[in-house]
Formats: sequence, structure tokens, C-alpha cells
Amino acid sequence: MLKPLFLDDAGPSSVGQPVARREAVLKVTGEARYAADHHPEGMLYAVIAASSIARGRVTRLDVANASAHPGVIGVMTPENAPKFARHPDLKDSNPFTFRLDVLQDENVRYANQPVAVVIGETLEAATEGAYLLAPRYESDVARVQFDAGEPFTPNVIGGLYPPNESKGDVETALSSAAVRINATYRTPAQYHNAMEPHAIVAQWNGDELTIDTPSQALGLGRARIAGLFGLDVKSVLIRSPYLGGGFGNKALISGPQILGIMAARFTGRPVKLVLRREQTFGPVGHRAPTSQTLRLGAQADGTLTAIAHHSRTASSTFDDFFEPSGTLSHSLYATETISTTHDAVRLDIGTPLFMRAPGKAPGSFALECAIDEMARACDMDPLDFRLKNYAEIEPMSGKPFSSKALRECYAQGAQRFGWTGRPRAPRQMIDASGLLVGWGMGTATFPAKMFLAEARVVLREDGNATVACGAHDMGQGAWTVLAQIAADSLGLDLEQVELQIGRSDLPDGGMAGGSAGTATAGTAIHHAGKDVVAQLIDMATNDERSPLFRAGNAGVIARNGRLSRSDDEGRGETYSVILARAGRTNIEGKGNAAPDAVAQGNYATHSHGAVFAEVKVDPELGQIRVSRLVGAFAAGRIINPRLARSQYLGGMIWGVSFALQEHAIMDPRTGRPMNANLAEYHVPVNADVPSLEAIIVDEDDPYVNALGIKGIGEIGITGSAGAVANAVWHATGIRVRQAPITLDKLLWSQPSHARDGSSPSRALFD
Ligand code: MOS
Repeated sequence: MLKPLFLDDAGPSSVGQPVARREAVLKVTGEARYAADHHPEGMLYAVIAASSIARGRVTRLDVANASAHPGVIGVMTPENAPKFARHPDLKDSNPFTFRLDVLQDENVRYANQPVAVVIGETLEAATEGAYLLAPRYESDVARVQFDAGEPFTPNVIGGLYPPNESKGDVETALSSAAVRINATYRTPAQYHNAMEPHAIVAQWNGDELTIDTPSQALGLGRARIAGLFGLDVKSVLIRSPYLGGGFGNKALISGPQILGIMAARFTGRPVKLVLRREQTFGPVGHRAPTSQTLRLGAQADGTLTAIAHHSRTASSTFDDFFEPSGTLSHSLYATETISTTHDAVRLDIGTPLFMRAPGKAPGSFALECAIDEMARACDMDPLDFRLKNYAEIEPMSGKPFSSKALRECYAQGAQRFGWTGRPRAPRQMIDASGLLVGWGMGTATFPAKMFLAEARVVLREDGNATVACGAHDMGQGAWTVLAQIAADSLGLDLEQVELQIGRSDLPDGGMAGGSAGTATAGTAIHHAGKDVVAQLIDMATNDERSPLFRAGNAGVIARNGRLSRSDDEGRGETYSVILARAGRTNIEGKGNAAPDAVAQGNYATHSHGAVFAEVKVDPELGQIRVSRLVGAFAAGRIINPRLARSQYLGGMIWGVSFALQEHAIMDPRTGRPMNANLAEYHVPVNADVPSLEAIIVDEDDPYVNALGIKGIGEIGITGSAGAVANAVWHATGIRVRQAPITLDKLLWSQPSHARDGSSPSRALFD
């Protein structure tokens, strides 16, 4: 079993300590083995031949030519591919089951769909073989233009979100409002682009299957694979100790991963399959484009009276995933009337999927820009406007928040940024080198959720413990924070705890998704550790040979591997002594996690934050740079501030990337993504964000779960994208309502302060 290296000794309770990543040295020295680093004996390489059309069918594959290439072992096509026990197009009761393209027929439903798999002795042979297949197609006109589709009302993720919800009479409130905003914001298709592409090494041993592949949800993945191949779940072992980024599209097993498993069965040898970057633009999910119309109403004093949020999105022609962008408007700003509606169009694209704050990220871009526009229309400072409309209870549900330190986030963020003194009008600040300077802000929010999980803890006679939970570390720090929680629950030092995660044969760790990974696995581990301690206390307090005899449960504390009387800490004994006296070699404890029905029923559970952005815009070139970003976030108890800060900063950088860079461009003629590579699909590098700060705001949540943990993984992108967009407006006076805000859009937009019908190209030069 993997032995993480220890960098810090954080003392008695490490919870709340900035412990360094326990696996950091393994990662920076290359010792950590990711899925594609595995090379079992006799392993072959599989390469996908992907469709170059977006709609139609494959009429011919030159299998003979590909097979004849030296080193090619086999060519898997719909004609000869292993058959499934359960058809990959069949849905089941789990709303997270999506249809896969795994050579079930010749039909092509989107560009880059796998149409064949070539397996070779070397990667080069398989790659050349895939090229030699030279597919021919019968193709139909691809429908990839978001604006051309016929909208319908979707069933949002198996009914998880009703498409339409409302409170009060929003139309009447809008018509009687003193100030109104009606604006449409557009967000583009985006792709996850984790550093590590989907990769799998698959080995069959009879009907036993072992795979190395990155997974954010081992239990779901194992069940999906077992269902498709007709196996017992116990026959499927997934190993996923490290992920090179997940971002949502490693939460469910994808078609290409299934193809790797099929290729291993097809050849009877272990097979490795790794997607090339461009092959991740299609079969493994993405964020669909949105067009969101926000109509806001307010009284003359800036009191919001109505939020109407309509969101249009796209899904594939063959499955239902719809970005739930409007839901954010349920919980953020106090108003008497709210209406959120969703519709969608169907396009010849791969099915979209959960991606980096699904729904909330595009929804937040639109809502935070609209709120900024409304503050301007009311002639109020954007922060004052948000404080005036601060939600003391969740507006849509009427429930109290389980905790909400958003006021403190606003205050600490604004103070650190230096928001006071911001000129209200745009285009008022110029730096020493003549660049236009703008300041903008946004509110961040993300729901605090939990999934089901189990954990097992074994405390041994030497006083050390092994903690087992099939949790997932996709870079967020699970190897570290889950060990911290375990050590804390057991009253042990961190280095006395060995953590086992990232394997499907461990107790089900739930999912590292929905920003709920730590709350989920952490709660199960906490309860398992407490179970062990409770057993130790029973053993000691009922044994007359123990100094704790008859101390009673409440009268005992567990710390430093030792139980002692709370009224006299000198009287106690170590766990080892208790075990030895009882003749036990170990004690096993079990724990579970489940969403707390009372907390979820009675309270609105969300993390909150405030993000402040400074941008500089070149008035001649329109080039936009983010020069400073300050975020302040409150998310309940923080297990590890160093790793939490890293999560926040990562999320804020996504916000920059959302506002200014990320944009998948579809070719309307071919239906193919035109920038399916990291040279042309832009994500931020260090130079794109010179100064970043994330402030951790104290918050105690007594309701959300046993540990008081709310999510931190995805909140950073919310608020940040809008803050950057609002800063661009403040710098230039130009409101670009379409992400990403690129210099061409600035140059061709009319400034909102234009005095006359000046030509668009003069916008920035005036
Ligand atoms: Mo997140 S999109 O739930 O990985």
C-alpha cells in the first residue's frame, strides 16, 4: 500500500492546521503513479479512431490496411467489438447514468466520437493503424449552432432541478418597478481540460477486471462497469490514487474508458488507452453554452423587487444533461419575487456534463453582471447595493441559512482590496503607463451538499491506525485532510494514521464532486474514528484494572493515543495498554455519512464569498489584464487552511479564465471544435494573474454536518467571473455581455457612456 511522506508534524490535533500535502514529495519527484504510468507485463496500446463528422454514419473502415500495419494486433469495430450485458444506451434509475459511445453501431452523433479502436504492440503502431482506417461516412448537416435550435423545456438532470420555479408575481413586480434591467448574457461551450486526460490501463483475469483509471466516484464507476459487462461489482477493482485534475468529467466512467476495457477483453492482454487532447473534445463531456436573460426590478432606493432569470442551454441529440444556470438566483439576493426558467436546444455534440460549478458558474457570471448593471442604474456602489439586498433567509425557500458569514466576507475582502474610494462612474482611473484601470466585484456562493459514504478504522496494538475509505484525491488534498480528520477523531498524531483511499475495494467513499468530497468522506471517517474511541472507553471504564474504571463515557478524553479522566488528566492509560490487557491485537470501528435530513430540510446550506477584481485595459489595443484578485470566503470549518486557500485560488483563476479566456469554437460547416488543443483553447498561466489573495473567513456551522464542513472546491469560480467582467466595464465603460470578454468584443461594442453615434471601432479610443 502506498505510504505518503510526512512533511509536517502538526501536533496533537492537526485539524485546522496548514499541514502540507502528505503526497507532495511523491508528486514532485515523479514517484506518484497516475493511471497512464502503469505498464503491466504484456501490455498493448489502444488508440481511438475518432469521427471527423458530427452527424451521420460510418460506411467504410479500411480494416485490412490497418491490420496489415506492422505491430497492429487487432482492430475493434462495431462489427467485432465485444457485446455488452447491458446496452450502453439504456438508462437506469440513477440520474447520473449517461449514454456512452462504445462502438455499439455505425452511427455518428458528434465530432470526435470513437468509431473504432486499433490495438498495437506500440503506441506508434496503434496510432498509425488508426490513421490507416481512413473512415468513409454518409454525413448529414451538423446542427451545432446554438442560436438555430428549436427550444424545449428540459428535464434537468433526471429531475434534480425543476426547470421552472417561481415565488410571487414577478411580472407585476417588474412592471411596477422604478428601475429595470433587461439584459442577455452569453457564455460559451467550455471543456474541462484537466492536465491528465482520461486514461486507463485495463487487465482481465477471467471474469475479474482490474483497472487503473482516474475516478472522482469509484462506487458509481464500478457499478456502471459491472452493469455493462454483466459482472459482480466485487469482480471490478478500480485503482485511482491520484488524478491530474477532475473538474467533473471524471465523476462518471466515460465511453473511452469502457473502450479500454473492451480492448483488453478483445485481445486477451492488458491494454492502455490514453486520450489525446483533441479527443477529449467530444466523448467525455463539457460545459454547454448558455444564453441567459436577466430581468431585474428595483425601487428607486435600490431595493430589489424582482429577479427573472431565464436560461437557455444545449444538450446532445441523444441524452439529457442541462446546465442548471438559473438555480443560483434562488439563494443570493433578497427579493419578494423570483422566477427561474430553463429551456434547451439539441445539437450534434457530445452530451454535456458536470463541469466546475455546474450551473452556478455561468449563472453567476450572468447574475453578478446584472446586479452590477442594476447598481449602476440605481446610482449605487455595487457593494452597497449588495448589502442593501442582503438575504437574511434564503429568498426562494424562505429557510434560514445554516450559517452565512457573507457580510464578513464582503467586509474583509473590500478592506483588503481597498474598495473604498472606488469612483462610481467608469473610465475614471488610469495607471502610470496609461492603462485604463477598473474595479469590479461579485458575490460567490455554492451549495453545501453531502453524499453517502462509509469508512473503516482499525486501531492496532502498537497504537497506530489504518483508515480505509474509497475517497478520491483529484488534487484537492484528500490524502491530507482526511488523515487530519481521522487523527483528530482518534486522538492520535497525524503520523500514527495510515490512510487508504482511491480504490474501489475500500468502503464506498461516495463522490469527490459537488464540492462535497471532504464533508462526505470526512464525516464517515470521523464517525469510524469515534466508534473506535467509544469501544476503547467501554473497555477501560468497565475494567476494574483500569485507572478509568467507572469514569463514565463523558468523563474520559482521548488525546495523544491515550485515554484519561477529564477531571484528572494524569489518570489514564494508552490505547496499547487497553488492547494488550484485553488480549486484543486490534479494534475495528465503522462510520457512515449521509446528508443530514434535519439540516437539509430545515436550513439552506451554502458556502459564501466575495471577490474583488482589478483589471487594466490597454486603451489602444483593448488588451485586458487582471492585475489583482482578492477573494474572501466563508465555508464552515476549514480542516486545512493551506489546502483550502489553494482550492480558492484555483477557483478564482477559473473565474479569470471564464471571464477572459475559455471558449470552444465550433465550426458550423463541419460541426467540429476548431480549437481542440491547449494552444488555442486558452486557460490562464501564471502571467495572467499576477496577484491573487484568498482570505479564509471564520464561520461556525452547527447544522450542516457533524464536522461543520461546507464545500470549498467550486465556489471560487462563482463571483470571480462576474467580478472580472464588472471590472472591465468599470475600466472602459463598455459592457460586454458575452464571455469570454476578448479584445475584439471590446473594440466592437459601444461604450455605455457614448455621447453620440460614434463608430464602434472608436469605442476605446475616445
Ligand atoms: Mo464537480 S463539476 O462536481 O467535479
